[in-house]
Amino acid sequence: MPEVVAGSSHPGMAFSIARALGTKAYFPKVEKFPDGETHIVSPPVKGTVVYVQTMHPYPNEMLVEMELTTNLLKELGATRIIAVVPYLAYTRQDTRHEEGEAIAIKGMLRMLEAAGVNDVLSVDIHLHRLSLKAMSGLTSVTLHEVSAVDALAKEAGRYLKKPVVVGPDSESERWAKRAAELLDSNYDVLEKTRISPKEIEIRPKTMDVKGRDVLIIDDIVSTGDTIMKVISSLKSKGANRIAAAFTHGVLSGEDAAAGLYRAGADYLISTNTINNEFSRVDVGPIIAEKLKEIL
Ligand code: R5P
Repeated sequence: MPEVVAGSSHPGMAFSIARALGTKAYFPKVEKFPDGETHIVSPPVKGTVVYVQTMHPYPNEMLVEMELTTNLLKELGATRIIAVVPYLAYTRQDTRHEEGEAIAIKGMLRMLEAAGVNDVLSVDIHLHRLSLKAMSGLTSVTLHEVSAVDALAKEAGRYLKKPVVVGPDSESERWAKRAAELLDSNYDVLEKTRISPKEIEIRPKTMDVKGRDVLIIDDIVSTGDTIMKVISSLKSKGANRIAAAFTHGVLSGEDAAAGLYRAGADYLISTNTINNEFSRVDVGPIIAEKLKEIL
């Protein structure tokens, strides 16, 4: 069985993954020097090591800690490192929109590769332009993905009656379709155009939601703008109760959660890839099952 090592962001998840695998979890000491440098001391490890670290709320800080720790774990005796990164940041920067723009996901994976990471396992990866295979092919780090959509749909089903499932854009179709299957309902996806990193346009469809409960499903809620626009559009069409379920509650805008309620959301449901007050779905067991498969 592998040893499980916790990054500073998710000690509880590391502990529950270790318990599910019937193995021991280690908790390296992660401190800050007065000038801001990260200082890490880890117990010795050997063989395959599962390292658990999410990339929120400070993705760059978490990344540096992940690089320093995984590099250290290899030096201490790890032969294979599987980094469990429930929320994998930088995946939205997967293409060059303008000359000179960094394809940051590539740079980030190269850093992990250089540190000695062999595999990355994440949840509902933002694969809007690249497939999992293509993203995995960017470096020698093998990417694995699990989905929280079944658990999110099940949770939403506790509150809503046979809801129409709505995905904000074509990329969310894989989650909307699956959720609708599980809830024995129908689904649709809207047309979303991103005008700038902070501005989007949602084109409403002629979807009949009058008097129906609606479940909006997406991978990430960051500023909340996308879901707010979808909720407003659904409300104007006479939707009944509305739940928004999302895997990663980045909630980067200070007003993001309040804005969703203001727009008319009745229920907000997310997972604990990023811990927040809406984390009702624990992805620990889903990750542990996948680990058993790839170990
Ligand atoms: C985009 O393609 C993603 O799937 C999400 O819809 C997006 O990241 C949400 O961002 P925001 O909450 O800032 O609108």
